Amino acid sequence: MSAVDITAFPKDFAWGAATAAYQIEGGWNMDGRGPSIWDTFCHEGGRVFGDHTGDVACNSYQLWEEDLKCIQQLDLSHYRLSVSWSRILPDGTTNHINPKGVEYYNKVIDSLIASGVTPMITLWHMDLPQALQDCGGWCSAEIADTFESYASFCFKTFGDRVKLWITLNEPYVCAMLGYEDGIFAPGIKDPGLSVYVAGHNMLRAHAKAWHAYNTHFRPSQGGQVSLALNSDWAEPLTAKDAAATERYKEFTLDWFACPVFCTGDYPESMRSRIENRSLELGYKQGSRLPHFSKDEPSPLGTADFFAVNYYTSRKVKDLSENTELSFVGDQGAEGVIDPSWPICGVHWLAVYPEGLRKLLKYIKDTYTSVPIYITENGFSQMGPVQIEDVDRSQFYEDTLQQVGKAISQDGVNVKGYFAWSLLDNFEWNDGFNVRFGLFHVDFSSSELKRTLYRSVHQRTWRATWQTSHTGKAVHLKVCTGKRQSSIRLTPGALG
Ligand code: GAL
Repeated sequence: MSAVDITAFPKDFAWGAATAAYQIEGGWNMDGRGPSIWDTFCHEGGRVFGDHTGDVACNSYQLWEEDLKCIQQLDLSHYRLSVSWSRILPDGTTNHINPKGVEYYNKVIDSLIASGVTPMITLWHMDLPQALQDCGGWCSAEIADTFESYASFCFKTFGDRVKLWITLNEPYVCAMLGYEDGIFAPGIKDPGLSVYVAGHNMLRAHAKAWHAYNTHFRPSQGGQVSLALNSDWAEPLTAKDAAATERYKEFTLDWFACPVFCTGDYPESMRSRIENRSLELGYKQGSRLPHFSKDEPSPLGTADFFAVNYYTSRKVKDLSENTELSFVGDQGAEGVIDPSWPICGVHWLAVYPEGLRKLLKYIKDTYTSVPIYITENGFSQMGPVQIEDVDRSQFYEDTLQQVGKAISQDGVNVKGYFAWSLLDNFEWNDGFNVRFGLFHVDFSSSELKRTLYRSVHQRTWRATWQTSHTGKAVHLKVCTGKRQSSIRLTPGALG
């Protein structure tokens, strides 16, 4: 069995778990909250597994104290949550502020801090106010200013206590699934066009928010702001697929990382490829990939740390013969799953913890030496609930071993790890059918009881973080099947 080298993790490493407002809060129409695009999408029916909705979800809006107990039970040093934009600004603008919404997040933040837990707050985790979608959503240029005002409102209201901010979560996923494939809210299927416009406005919005923080809030608040980028690790399927693999990376992580960390613009070859294909396809208005205006704040340098969400890896196949007008056509590459990587729960999640180590090294070598936070990583369950989740336990152990190697052997400056997710929750178009929680939530009962999965009892990341964080030995119960024993971990003992 593999062992995690706990000495690899710095003393101030952030050991956290992550959630997102729409996935856990419920209370969709309580106390003045405005509707979001996910309310609309779910209520339409036929969009989400079993027509599930986030109307109640884990009811964290009313059961926050239960979530806090979970966080305390895990001894987390950090907790990543998102603010529901339409809960505090029901129509998305600062023209109307909902005091009850503000009160809720004040309560959450204050109680985290009182418990010694550092909050990391995401401003937008997929749940755009419906009122803004009615004005074009991320395809409307005005949204960047509206987001800047919302972000500034949050910095002003919560920034005395919150020092770690994520503006946007996974622009790639939101643009691709929301505007290209239409399988996430707002459900727009507009291949090869809206995806780039939405992504572009997300970057503009992020850049404006970062500059607002930098100018108006950083001097007094001293916090840090970034955006969370998701990425698979990608490797060529065969030697012939090397160029396709480069394109695959360019069209996923580099699409957003290059403007922020490298050049202030999209990767050059992505730009020229879309330009050429736009011409070939007879697209009249020039390239479908927009340009950054010189009159606006540049995205370059607008991240104080690198926030990356990693779940899985892909082998990449060349698809350059594809002539269709679509994102995949532009990319000319397709990711497939290596059969040797086990699938855990949901069909797309092929487990390859080595991919995380390789991705971390890639980020360090390609982009930046700023600290990296792994803001999401996790393992899912489907079918009958398994509280004794041995596979998940192994997954966390293997993954943290890889993160440890990235730090100690590859010299990557990893500052924190957030497990996705604290709780089983509303997993977007998979509804409650896919469970990522460290705590099981019983959605069949109105109490929505939280129960710790076995993986967290075992000698996995909890032990790792306790020993590395405190530098002290801890005793914990180890459960293997029916046997239970106690082991003692000291820093370095598992090396
Ligand atoms: C991420 C997303 C999370 C969560 C996770 C698991 O893309 O940010 O909200 O759903 O995937 O699928």
